[in-house]
Amino acid sequence: MCGIVGYVGPRRAQPILIDCLKRLEYRGYDSAGIAVVGKSLQLFKSEGEISVLEGKMPEMEGSLGIAHTRWATQGKPTTENAHPFADCSNMLAIVHNGIISNFMDLRDALKADGHVFSSETDTEVFAHLVESELEGDLLGAVQRAVAKVEGTYAFAVVAQGGDEIVATRRESPLVIGLGNGENFVASDVTALLKHTNRMLYIEDGEVVRVTKDSVRILDSSGKDVRREPQKVAWNIEDAEKGGYPHFMLKEIYEQPSAIHDSLLGRVESLDTEPFFSDSTFSNVKIVACGTSYHAGLVGKYIIEELAKIPTTVQISSEYRYSSVSRESPLMVLVTQSGETLDTMAAAREARKRGNKTVAIANVMGSAITREVDHVIYTRAGPEIGVAATKTFVTQLVALYLLAMDLGAQNRTLSALARRAIIGQLRSLPRAVQDVLNKAQEIEALAKKYHGARDMFFIGRNVNYPVALEGALKTKEISYIHGEGYPAGELKHGPLALISKDSPVVAIAIKDHTYDKMLGNISEVSARGSPVIAIGFEGDTELAKFADDVIYIREIPPLFSPVPVIVALQLFSYYLARERGCPIDKPRNIAKTVTVD
Ligand code: AGP
Repeated sequence: MCGIVGYVGPRRAQPILIDCLKRLEYRGYDSAGIAVVGKSLQLFKSEGEISVLEGKMPEMEGSLGIAHTRWATQGKPTTENAHPFADCSNMLAIVHNGIISNFMDLRDALKADGHVFSSETDTEVFAHLVESELEGDLLGAVQRAVAKVEGTYAFAVVAQGGDEIVATRRESPLVIGLGNGENFVASDVTALLKHTNRMLYIEDGEVVRVTKDSVRILDSSGKDVRREPQKVAWNIEDAEKGGYPHFMLKEIYEQPSAIHDSLLGRVESLDTEPFFSDSTFSNVKIVACGTSYHAGLVGKYIIEELAKIPTTVQISSEYRYSSVSRESPLMVLVTQSGETLDTMAAAREARKRGNKTVAIANVMGSAITREVDHVIYTRAGPEIGVAATKTFVTQLVALYLLAMDLGAQNRTLSALARRAIIGQLRSLPRAVQDVLNKAQEIEALAKKYHGARDMFFIGRNVNYPVALEGALKTKEISYIHGEGYPAGELKHGPLALISKDSPVVAIAIKDHTYDKMLGNISEVSARGSPVIAIGFEGDTELAKFADDVIYIREIPPLFSPVPVIVALQLFSYYLARERGCPIDKPRNIAKTVTVD
């Protein structure tokens, strides 16, 4: 997830581009860059936030340009890897949002043709691809180049001597802002609202040519498209959250595309490069904090089921002070920020103890990525809300992929079984979208239960950690005291606290523990506690046991944590909203915990 802007008109492009870009900084902020067409193509980029670029860049003359703020997914967040990228002869510049999944093949072919690359990114291939197609107009070159690209993208391209921006998209947003005698390109409207509220939304596969006084849209077969502009009613502050009242809600809604992006290029074929081609492991240890620890607990079930490798999970701050030496050949460190001090210290300790280490991280180039042998990046994009949501589900995706990989190495998973898992992973965005479509129902439940002081969350098997995560989300943002338990543990203590004033959220999907869950629900109902169950669609039996039921689409139980947690995220969000809590910045906690 990155931010793109473009300007063409009578004014100096540079200050306009930088101002627009700053409004997209929430989409990515590890490096930034700008290209302006003047007497020559002027291109400047820098590591760090946009303010760093602004402080260092020279004055640029010209009234046509593009700019970019980056959230690294391929290649570290360095100046070399920042956008825009130029071609070999410095005649054209491009910016990109998305992931080119076939970039390695394209790069090899372009290198063989003599193109020289300056970065590790997937994006740079597109600059050379357009260059290689540049006979005649830029529009035609972009059309031909994009036909060779697989993956997701929004591209914007300018060329020296031209008077246009050519842009195109597939599964990444792209909008044209219409001004008077000037036009704009952006990855979302947020960037442009200061200048215009008249927008043309570009559709998948379309290519658009934008000059200061014209916009031409062509569909994927090259036919002209007529489209009426739309007026956007947002103010600038609303738009930074994409129209959502809170970043947390926006990030919950981004989960289908975050899952999709996290799978991209990793499950296209069964022959994708394994994470560990050189080793097999007799056991695995996962170490993490908070929500990432809960992802690790789900990961234990996933790895044990798919790879048949015994797996233990430990909280980072406990692991780092434990005394066992070289206990697990493979240590998996899960941390969305990649900066959590306890997890960093655990990584160092693990290496000192001679373990092979792999990090599952969301922030490219973050501290932990330099401490471990291997990194599996989640591709959730920047998460601004303190409550982890999309980073959690993409951590689960990374753990499914890791388990599949270990299973293949261990020969516990046949090609057929892997194919079936890939099919399930690909269906997850749809399953999540189904839950998001029930937001109003979940909101109504939150209105009913927001007065509770205590709430219990129970689950079994792979959904036991999801119960823990539901409880953490609830206490973190709504300040309701939420406790998660394995449902079988209730009778060993917590039942003493169950009363009509403590609603119980019970995850009761149809798996081998279903009957036991119904028993647990009866136990708490008998003590007067209202029960909100989460179950599979069509399970009419469950409705007889619970006061309210949130139904999710039936999927194999091992994959159910993904849609179930989305229902619980929405529930905790609406509970917090009903209680008037500061959802994105809950009291006393920070997004990144760099202290002991
Ligand atoms: C969850 O909503 C929290 N923000 C918190 O528990 C978080 O998951 C924990 O601090 C670990 O952070 P990390 O993933 O960046 O290491």
